[in-house]
This record gives sequence, structure tokens and C-alpha cells, in this order.
Amino acid sequence: MNPILKVSKLCKSYTQGDKEVRVLTQINLEVSRGERIAILGQSGCGKSTLLSLLGGLDNPDSGTIEVDGVELAKMSEDERSKNRSQKLGIIFQQYHLMRNLTALENVGLPLEILNTANHERQAGEALSQVGLSHRSSHFPSEMSGGECQRVAIARALVTQPSLILADEPSGNLDQKTGEEVMNLLFHLCSQHNLTLLLVTHNRELAHRCDRILELTEGGLHEQSK
Ligand SMILES: Nc1ncnc2c1ncn2[C@@H]1O[C@H](COP(=O)(O)OP(=O)(O)OP(=O)(O)O)[C@@H](O)[C@H]1O
Ligand SMILES: [Mg+2]
Repeated sequence: MNPILKVSKLCKSYTQGDKEVRVLTQINLEVSRGERIAILGQSGCGKSTLLSLLGGLDNPDSGTIEVDGVELAKMSEDERSKNRSQKLGIIFQQYHLMRNLTALENVGLPLEILNTANHERQAGEALSQVGLSHRSSHFPSEMSGGECQRVAIARALVTQPSLILADEPSGNLDQKTGEEVMNLLFHLCSQHNLTLLLVTHNRELAHRCDRILELTEGGLHEQSK
């Protein structure tokens, strides 16, 4: 079976005034279905940059990204957005919920983009999986940080994607809530056999994954567990 994610020779720089900030110089990565991979690395080394490229939210300078055998660069903007909603679930450190939508509406958004029938029922089921049925009509400002992150997890999982990209999902939460959220994420990933790419600063969490990669000097390096 083809890998769910294949990245070859990926490079990304930013221009800042007249300076070039080289962030990713040579990223190569192959991820099999169902694998859980942790990405460690110092602040500013390019972890979020890498996830935004993999999620098709930004473009690389060179190199290729194939999700489930299809190269991102060959997709139109429309196809990319569809691919993102269908195959990828993205979880950010700062939740990125729409503040004018309720918990239920936030979770249902990817289904709406995909024009799925019965999206309210499916969104309700996803919300119940993260234990938040009783908060379905709450807006993000009416929920705690942990609840917002659980809504974000439900939104990432609602389309039953094959690949979850998670950028320090517990980084903004107190230790206990962070652990609960991460236990939930690991539980849902194994229940649905999802592939997980988890950016984290937490080595203990990294050790719960199948592989640990460290991002240094613009490249990924396998760490022994
Ligand atoms: N839009 C931008 N323009 C210029 N430089 C940028 C831009 N976005 C990020 N950078 C720089 O690129 C580098 C990588 O940033 P990135 O956010 O990917 O790091 P990170 O590994 O996720 O860090 P952290 O662990 O703190 O979240 C940083 O040095 C940052 O200053
Ligand atoms: Mg980051």
C-alpha cells in the first residue's frame, strides 16, 4: 500500500525585509497508515511551518508533498481545500475555532465545505465522542481552553480523515487538562486507526508515538526511542 504521506526534498524560506530566513532546507519523510509520529525540535526550528506546508495552508519553495498518492502542488485551490477537509484533520495550539459559530457549528464546518448530508447529526456524534454534547450551543468564548481544544479535535475527526496533523495541541492547557486532551486524542486515533503527526515539546508524549523525529538544521532526524 502506498504511504499516506510522502515528502521529498521539501524546502521553505521566508523573506523578512531584505533578508532570507531559511527554515526547512531538506525535509524527507514517509509515513505509513496508522503510524503515530512525534516531531520534536527547538522553538523556531520550523515545526509549524512544516505542518502548514503538509496541510496545504502554505506553499513550499521546492520539493513535493503527496497525500495518499496525490501531489498537493498538482491540485487546484478548490481541490486542495476539499483534500484538506476530507483527508486531513488539523489541530492547532490555539484551537482556531470560529468565534461566531457554536461548538456544534464549528465541528460541522468541514462537512459543510464537503456538502455532506446530515452534517448536524454527524457533528453531534463527533461532539459526543469528545464528551461535549452538553456544550453544543456554546460559543468558543463560553467554553474553557480544554473544551475548545476538544471541539477542535472533534472538528478534525468529523470527516474521518486518514491523517491528523496536530501542532502542540496541549501546549496552551494546564498539565492535567493537557494530559486529558492528549489521552483523548491518542484514544480516538487508535480507535479509528488514524495516522498522527504530532508536534510536541513533551518527550513523554513523544514516547507514546511509534517514531520520534527531531527537526534540526532544516531537516528531520530519526531519534531512537
Ligand atoms: N511569515 C513569516 N515571515 C518570516 N519569518 C517567519 C514567518 N513565519 C515563521 N517565520 C520564522 O520561521 C522560523 C520557524 O517558525 P515556526 O513557527 O515554524 O517555528 P516552530 O518550530 O513552530 O516554533 P515554536 O516551537 O516556537 O512553535 C522562525 O524563526 C520564525 O521566526
Ligand atoms: Mg510552532
